[in-house]
Amino acid sequence: METVKLGILGMGTVASGLVKIIELNNSKISDSIGKKLCVEKVLVRNPNKKRNSGLPQNIYTTDAYEIINDPDIQIIVELIGGIDPAREHIKAALKNKKHIVTANKALIAACGGELEELAAINGAKLMYEASVAGGIPIINTISENLAANEFDQITGIVNGTTNYILTQMTENGLEYEQALKEAQRLGFAESDPSSDVEGDDAVYKIAILASIAFGQEIKIKDIPKEGITKISREDINYARELDYRIKLLASAVKKGNEIEIGVHPTFIPAKHPLSTVKNEFNAVFLKGNAVGELMFYGKGAGSLPTGSAILGDIISILKGGKTGCHKFKKIEKYKITYNAFKPYYIRFEVIDKPGVLGKIADAFGANGISLASVMQRQKNGDNIAPLVFITHAAYRKNIDAALKEINKFECVAKIADIIMVENFE
Ligand SMILES: NC(=O)c1ccc[n+]([C@@H]2O[C@H](COP(=O)([O-])OP(=O)(O)OC[C@H]3O[C@@H](n4cnc5c(N)ncnc54)[C@H](OP(=O)(O)O)[C@@H]3O)[C@@H](O)[C@H]2O)c1
Repeated sequence: METVKLGILGMGTVASGLVKIIELNNSKISDSIGKKLCVEKVLVRNPNKKRNSGLPQNIYTTDAYEIINDPDIQIIVELIGGIDPAREHIKAALKNKKHIVTANKALIAACGGELEELAAINGAKLMYEASVAGGIPIINTISENLAANEFDQITGIVNGTTNYILTQMTENGLEYEQALKEAQRLGFAESDPSSDVEGDDAVYKIAILASIAFGQEIKIKDIPKEGITKISREDINYARELDYRIKLLASAVKKGNEIEIGVHPTFIPAKHPLSTVKNEFNAVFLKGNAVGELMFYGKGAGSLPTGSAILGDIISILKGGKTGCHKFKKIEKYKITYNAFKPYYIRFEVIDKPGVLGKIADAFGANGISLASVMQRQKNGDNIAPLVFITHAAYRKNIDAALKEINKFECVAKIADIIMVENFE
């Protein structure tokens, strides 16, 4: 049986999962492609690090070009992460007509189009199923199986770290900091969690998904984002009382010739299927004009689920499938906007005295915002009481104008939080 030689850049979490699956499912994979996979060389930073990949020590190198220039290696799997040197290595390998499989969302979101062009010029394939939602096969599904659809919406819980934190705050009453520490202890959050909790990781993923779904390359700089660091247990509790859950949603919605795209913590109805997505799990909900509503659910990260997606791409390349051709298109069909006309949850801390509610409601009314519900609670101490509003649908700029006015009121101690509400109507 013919052997296909792989080069791997990196031997961390994902690469070790990839090696484990090649070993574990060896005969299933060979049956599927009629070839045997063999890891030929692996790039690492520190060749003396103790690893339990089961690979011989002499397979490791610190020179990427030993892999990129090896004429026997057909496919290179990039798993070092970040922009450079990953981008330079991939470009050099594509110029050498090697097929590339990567899980690198930051790189694909930043320069997927440019790399796809280079791949096409060189007759090579660039595959990146593992870059979004780990084990969930969403990229190839959108670009192949659902290619006959015009998409109206693609909305996902695509970051397991933040979903774990929000779930623990909701179900076990943890404060944000406690939930983050627990996520780090369990390996669901990195020691520097900023890319996850500030929303950047979700921005990369929705940029990739929306670019493919809507057939237009969407730049990460055009995607507004807000992380979860300001979400308090009080917000979580009010959401529950109002029959909502708070999730970090990455969303792209087509409205006429505009695409509204953004990443935000969002109130979603407790009964919506996305509310049932808990802890480190991910889900992607989409609407196609032929297929209707679909939801994909599964593990969005981790060694084996991500390794599974990478092997799917390797197998697809070896079977000669069409996947891997141009998905990022440099055309301007749609205007990229963020004018969301949505209801908002707004929590104030106010001086506990008569007339405050009416004064705030009047300020909303003067800015064309009508109120759907109000919750007024006992004071917290120091004569300060929480006051919570859910508005009817309004533009954020009108909400901000009203809040600017309200912020000047002596009776308002603090505008504690503003969170968008998505009712999926
Ligand atoms: N972890 C997940 O669950 C997951 C899920 C989906 C996608 N991804 C993506 O998959 C990629 C890999 O993630 P990971 O979690 O496996 O990373 P990781 O555990 O940090 O491993 C990175 C590996 O790359 C090597 N490396 C890093 N920079 C290098 C450089 N400049 N030169 C040579 N080697 C270098 C490291 O070498 P040393 O071992 O010698 O330090 C290490 O073996 C990233 O793009 C990530 O965003 C990860």
